[in-house]
Amino acid sequence: MMNYLDSHCHINDEAYDEDLDEVLNRMLENRVTRAMIVCVSFEDYRKTLEIKKEGIRFKKAIGVYPECTGISEDDFNEYVRLMKECDAVGEIGLDYHWYPETKEKQKELFIRQIRIAKELGKPVIVHSRDALQDTYDILKEHRYEGVLHCYSGSAEMAKEFVKLGYYISIAGPVTWKNAKEPLEVVKSVPLERLLIETDCPYLTPAPNRGKRNEPSYVVHTAKRIMEELGIDEETFLRQINANYDNLFGSN
Ligand code: NI
Repeated sequence: MMNYLDSHCHINDEAYDEDLDEVLNRMLENRVTRAMIVCVSFEDYRKTLEIKKEGIRFKKAIGVYPECTGISEDDFNEYVRLMKECDAVGEIGLDYHWYPETKEKQKELFIRQIRIAKELGKPVIVHSRDALQDTYDILKEHRYEGVLHCYSGSAEMAKEFVKLGYYISIAGPVTWKNAKEPLEVVKSVPLERLLIETDCPYLTPAPNRGKRNEPSYVVHTAKRIMEELGIDEETFLRQINANYDNLFGSN
């Protein structure tokens, strides 16, 4: 029987300081046995190194978040040093929703990190909020391997990213009421290009919406997708695990 995975989580967040081991136990109870832990700070990275659980295989990623356009060269170089220890570079990208005043600097920072990811041979985990066209233009010009994490755009744009070879990762909003667009995305992306994630502690899927999110809830997102696609659990999980292996490596 195939198991579930969470391709993007932040269990290094302070939201789990009090009960991380219970969160990890619930992963095992729900057959979520692989997870990518994403770091957006040195503190995240330090905490991530301490996260271990028998029966769960963790990967890790680090990147300079779009908020951090004012980063010093010393700090940037430290991020690069840590990227070498990781399975992926991210999350990196563009966020015009929260940081609309630094668009040009965000683009520079994004491109710089894609180039480093290429040099290191690590895939990119891309964050894009209210910036999908610029994200697309950059990922087309600086074409590489990676995933659009927590994808929230149209089905048409998703197909364009897939044409460039990128994966599309679906998070909790696909389970929410009025999830028309996310469900269209799910149907328009080939199964060979889909990933699933929680992005926890945020974006909690139904029926737990309103509570803190956690990796075990990825099962709700996966089930909603399987239902929409009309495929069985084994087929779905076999392909999702293969996609994760292909992108991030099979360790
Ligand atoms: Ni994230």
